Amino acid sequence: MRKKIVAGNWKMNTTRPDGIELAEAVAARAAEVPEGVGLIIAPPFTHLCCCGKRLKGTKVELSAQNCADHAKGAYTGEVSVDMLKAVGCQWTILGHSERRQYYGETDEKLVEKVKLALGAGLGVILCVGENLDEREAGKHFDVVKAQTEAVLYNFSAEEMKHIVIAYEPVWAIGTGKTATAAQAEEIHACIRNVIEAKFGAKVADDMTILYGGSCKPSNAKELFAEKDIDGGLIGGAALKADDFLGIALSF
Ligand code: PGA
Repeated sequence: MRKKIVAGNWKMNTTRPDGIELAEAVAARAAEVPEGVGLIIAPPFTHLCCCGKRLKGTKVELSAQNCADHAKGAYTGEVSVDMLKAVGCQWTILGHSERRQYYGETDEKLVEKVKLALGAGLGVILCVGENLDEREAGKHFDVVKAQTEAVLYNFSAEEMKHIVIAYEPVWAIGTGKTATAAQAEEIHACIRNVIEAKFGAKVADDMTILYGGSCKPSNAKELFAEKDIDGGLIGGAALKADDFLGIALSF
């Protein structure tokens, strides 16, 4: 059975006290969310540990927003998968377009990061998505297909069970411009075909594929009604517990 997930990517927002308050507010109402819908929050590194403590005994899981591409050692400023695991993370987001665009994240680096994350027992939310120029040039299917293949074709069907894909059109992130449900659905279906081509129908059918990009309570229902959209990766709207939960209650 394909799992539904709503994940909140807090990005570089909230200080430790704000973060704790937000985590507590999400945790307090998590039981209202239907059983088959998973909830994940991804606070900044500095308050993963204290936010994670507030999630104990609730259905909300903890994710990092990134991890290092090496296991340990002389990599100043980096945070390893073992460190994430030790503070209670179950997941890490990888390949967010902001990391690709501003921090030189390449598909090759992502392969290393996904390997390390899975090896440490973390689930991975791998982001893919085209930018505005690519969409306007009609290359969106090709770009998303290439990004998906370049990273995920290095893994086994067994490993795919611990990976979730998030389709995030860059032009819709933080811009208030959401992809229409139909625009999102056709890319999600394309991603599922890419997975099927390598791993077969069962793996493709079980794959959770999230939509991200200006998803909010007012548009979540329409997006989640599409057959290949299994939830959302939420940025701005994840910073208010009511909005975040409102999205999760849209199923
Ligand atoms: P947004 O961000 O919901 O603020 O558009 C989504 C994301 O970047 O994950």
